[in-house]
Amino acid sequence: MGYNVAIDGPAGAGKSTIAKLVAKEKGYIYVDTGAMYRGLAVHFLKNGIKPQETGKIIEACKKAQVSIGYENGAQQVYLNDENITTKLRTEETGNMASVASAVPAVRAKLLELQKTLAKEHDVIMDGRDIGTNILPNADVKIYLTASVETRARRRYDELLEKGETCSYEEIAKDIAERDYRDMHREIAPLRQAEDAHLVDSSDMTIDEVVRTIVALCR
Ligand code: DC
Repeated sequence: MGYNVAIDGPAGAGKSTIAKLVAKEKGYIYVDTGAMYRGLAVHFLKNGIKPQETGKIIEACKKAQVSIGYENGAQQVYLNDENITTKLRTEETGNMASVASAVPAVRAKLLELQKTLAKEHDVIMDGRDIGTNILPNADVKIYLTASVETRARRRYDELLEKGETCSYEEIAKDIAERDYRDMHREIAPLRQAEDAHLVDSSDMTIDEVVRTIVALCR
């Protein structure tokens, strides 16, 4: 069994930024499970499926194989052996992933992959149900959150920096909707595990969050 650190929390809380830095410092492999759901979402969108078409999603799952690899330490996602990493981070893919991840067949598809990685390696794995469902015996569990306003502001600044035009209100609405879906679905909803450490990053710097988490690890 590897040494396992689980980080769960809502969209935009900074899980991946923080997890990557902790992974580097501690020599763990960073596993981004959201990217796996996004990988399946790319497959559904490629097949012309709409988020509400649950039957088609279940059927399409049968022809999708998601796997991951690493290039210079960065996680790569493969869909039926094609590297689709650059296609994962659009709003459309994120929304499809959020809706499709409530379908049990979609979750079942990724469960073994996630558990096997944690068994074979020292990992810091981020997602929504890692501490509660995938790795209930993780050595360290973190629930990383921040207010909707903080998360929307960070996303807004990020997009502005990239030169994209966007509306703060739209982003905040999108985040609030995604929170609701992720927290209220029937299967493996996002919630803080009883033994998870709560870290609210609203008024913390990235370095402060990293130091807090590193201090909890062996
Ligand atoms: O972390 P992210 O935004 O890349 O994740 C995209 C969606 O995938 C998220 O809205 C919910 C789903 N997801 C999940 O249900 N369980 C996980 N462990 C990770 C992500």
